[in-house]
Amino acid sequence: MKILKVNIPGREYNIHIGSGLLEKTGEIVSEIFKGKRIAIITDKNVGTLYADKVTKALAGYDVSVITVDAGEKSKSFETLQYVYTRLIEEGITRTDLIVALGGGVVGDLTGFASSTILRGVDFVQIPTTLLAQVDSSVGGKTAVNLPQGKNLVGSFCQPKAVIADTDTLKTLSDKILSDGMAEVIKYGAICDAELFEILSNIKNNEELFAKIEEIVYTCCRIKSEIVEEDEFDTGRRMILNFGHTFGHAIEKKFNFSSVTHGMAVAAGMVMAATWGEENNVTPKGTAEKIEAVLKNYNLPTAYDLTKEELLASAGVDKKSDGGLINLILLNRIGDAVIHKIDRQSI
Ligand code: GLY
Repeated sequence: MKILKVNIPGREYNIHIGSGLLEKTGEIVSEIFKGKRIAIITDKNVGTLYADKVTKALAGYDVSVITVDAGEKSKSFETLQYVYTRLIEEGITRTDLIVALGGGVVGDLTGFASSTILRGVDFVQIPTTLLAQVDSSVGGKTAVNLPQGKNLVGSFCQPKAVIADTDTLKTLSDKILSDGMAEVIKYGAICDAELFEILSNIKNNEELFAKIEEIVYTCCRIKSEIVEEDEFDTGRRMILNFGHTFGHAIEKKFNFSSVTHGMAVAAGMVMAATWGEENNVTPKGTAEKIEAVLKNYNLPTAYDLTKEELLASAGVDKKSDGGLINLILLNRIGDAVIHKIDRQSI
């Protein structure tokens, strides 16, 4: 097991990464929570697999489980209202604890519910997908969606702990594993050429799982260093959005359904690298290297996207800044830079 400390002054927390950690939930929670009542929020798929295990691991606490539907549609005001109602029915108070058990949807929804109910109740993230373990559970972004776009209502609120049990990754479908791999590859591309090289050389899931604890740790280390420097996403944190400007437009084009976030970001990274090459920021051949590693993990490298579709998406994108877009480009693999470009020049 590895423990990584996120050093945000006054709101420090540990990310626990390793095999068999669900069984240790009680032990880990006891380090940061001295109360009695815990509400676990999960979805129907993850709840079926792990809610009993986590509840047992929390023996001695007064635990209730609140279950929402699986899928992006649960990041809605309707589900949020349901969660608030159930938490109030369970008699949650400010000194209790909320646990998010699931992937990015459950983590973002639970984080937002926790940061707002009763003006804030502490929460712990137990991410069960690769995407959630390396990205959404770390750094304190919480949100729900609006019809106009994803994550448009939310808060910055750091969890009290993150418990990333790498065993949960073994039950993921190939599609959901690849979804997370896109973000893993992104970390290599923006910050860590060595990680990028390791990922390029992995040939199958067996080799991936042999290195998974190290890979999740490296991604969380990169993300936590960035978040420590720029918690509120006004500067360097924006490099985490490499591939996301194009990616969000692709997700929107496919109505956030058949194309996963990771699939869209994968193609988005190739598009951003190509844009960088064409505009003399990124060395020639970089997009090709990214394409090669994405293909190792069965990720797409291109979608048709019109300028209109891209601009429509960028119009409500949180990365847009007046008439300018903060486009994340690569100086080289392992080194990202924020470029402010005119929306029309894209
Ligand atoms: N997922 C990007 C961020 O946390 O800033």
